[in-house]
Amino acid sequence: MSASSTLSHLSLSFSSSSFIHKPKFLYPITNNYYPNSVSLSTTTRICASSSSSSSQLMDPFLSKTQPPIPTTVDVDLGDRSYPIYIGSGLLNQPHLLQRHVHGKRVLVVTNNTVAPLYLDKVVEALTKGNQNVSVESVILPDGEQYKNMDTLMKVFDKAIESRLDRRSTFVALGGGVIGDMCGYAAASFLRGVNFIQIPTTVMAQVDSSVGGKTGINHHLGKNLIGAFYQPQCVLIDTDTLNTLPERELASGFAEVIKYGLIRDAEFFEWQEKNMQALLARDPNALAYAIKRSCENKAEVVSLDEKESGLRATLNLGHTFGHAIETGVGYGQWLHGEAVAAGTVMAVDMSYRLGWIDDSIVKRVGDILKKAKLPTTPPETVTMDMFKSVMAVDKKVADGLLRLILLKGPLGNCVFTGDYDRKALDDTLRAFCKS
Ligand SMILES: NC(=O)c1ccc[n+]([C@@H]2O[C@H](COP(=O)([O-])OP(=O)(O)OC[C@H]3O[C@@H](n4cnc5c(N)ncnc54)[C@H](O)[C@@H]3O)[C@@H](O)[C@H]2O)c1
Ligand SMILES: [Zn+2]
Repeated sequence: MSASSTLSHLSLSFSSSSFIHKPKFLYPITNNYYPNSVSLSTTTRICASSSSSSSQLMDPFLSKTQPPIPTTVDVDLGDRSYPIYIGSGLLNQPHLLQRHVHGKRVLVVTNNTVAPLYLDKVVEALTKGNQNVSVESVILPDGEQYKNMDTLMKVFDKAIESRLDRRSTFVALGGGVIGDMCGYAAASFLRGVNFIQIPTTVMAQVDSSVGGKTGINHHLGKNLIGAFYQPQCVLIDTDTLNTLPERELASGFAEVIKYGLIRDAEFFEWQEKNMQALLARDPNALAYAIKRSCENKAEVVSLDEKESGLRATLNLGHTFGHAIETGVGYGQWLHGEAVAAGTVMAVDMSYRLGWIDDSIVKRVGDILKKAKLPTTPPETVTMDMFKSVMAVDKKVADGLLRLILLKGPLGNCVFTGDYDRKALDDTLRAFCKS
């Protein structure tokens, strides 16, 4: 279904200062955290389409005799469309990767934490039964502080030394930092080579690997240099999450919760019932949460790839969160932790404006606590710090600080600069000691 033909199905309203977005997935609600096994023919999907044979994953006979078929979410972007494969053990299925490798040369970009865990496995998946392909790798230092031009140059150094040509494929193996950096390298090396994402954090699996935003930081700000560049495929092997530190796991759940709040109330209700299973890394619960998150993100991206309106709603809690990240210093709080506290603040403000009822405020606080995420900013971040960071935030235009706020029943939000300034001040006062 094309993006234009789907717009008529959506309840979207645009105005100069606000953007209202209502959800449209119609999934059956179930207490079972494995609702993939519910027939997907009962699902209404727009743009992002999924196919699943997850029931086969559960079948002990099938799992012994043939590899499980992954759940697939398609990102519909015309001739740049691509599949997201989701499931357990996918790195043991070489054909999934190999069918998307163009040319005979591959460069895997990873870091010194992820390489010892998964690099051999990925090289094997790329080369097994496929002797024509040669794989190089570049192992970067781990950390957001290395998401910069110097580190990017190491990728180009390796690519040039290895005489990679335009028909080579770059593979990002790691979290969002590696995905963003490798994607930008792929977008610019020889003016663009093929690109595959193998995200290994929840954050990367539910958010950063989907949608084609790539880039690096400048010392004056995060993600200021980059490109929109879509991969050939995203391969999510949920088994990689078994080695992820607990804090990183929970941080990713902040983005999962975000999808429920901005556009998918039924998904939020599912999370309320299954947060324990997610924290326990139940593979079926993880696969479902990742799938549903990718569907939500894929649909938003399909409708608004370059962020002219709808895509901005993915930033719920991020303007407050950005102020927290800046205030405490990057690296002190994880991104998802700052987004969690930021989401509580955005929800508080929505309530003060009279746009949501108090039951939503309570449910948001409860689910974030269940996910072991913070619900208040650190005391060191003052009102002035919030105001100054938010004032230079990229969402300021024509003097209006546009925010994503909840409005109406659960699962609805607006992107707007049209709100009573007093509500913002009251929220900041309520959450800041000084
Ligand atoms: N492009 C986008 O649309 C988008 C969206 C959201 C976030 N981002 C970017 O993503 C980055 C954050 O991503 P992140 O949260 O994945 O951080 P990250 O990439 O720094 O990964 C977090 C930590 O987990 C480690 N790690 C990764 N996979 C692991 C595994 N399976 N087992 C053990 N350790 C593992 C990493 O080495 C790192 O130490 C930021 O730079 C942010 O700007 C981009
Ligand atoms: Zn985020």
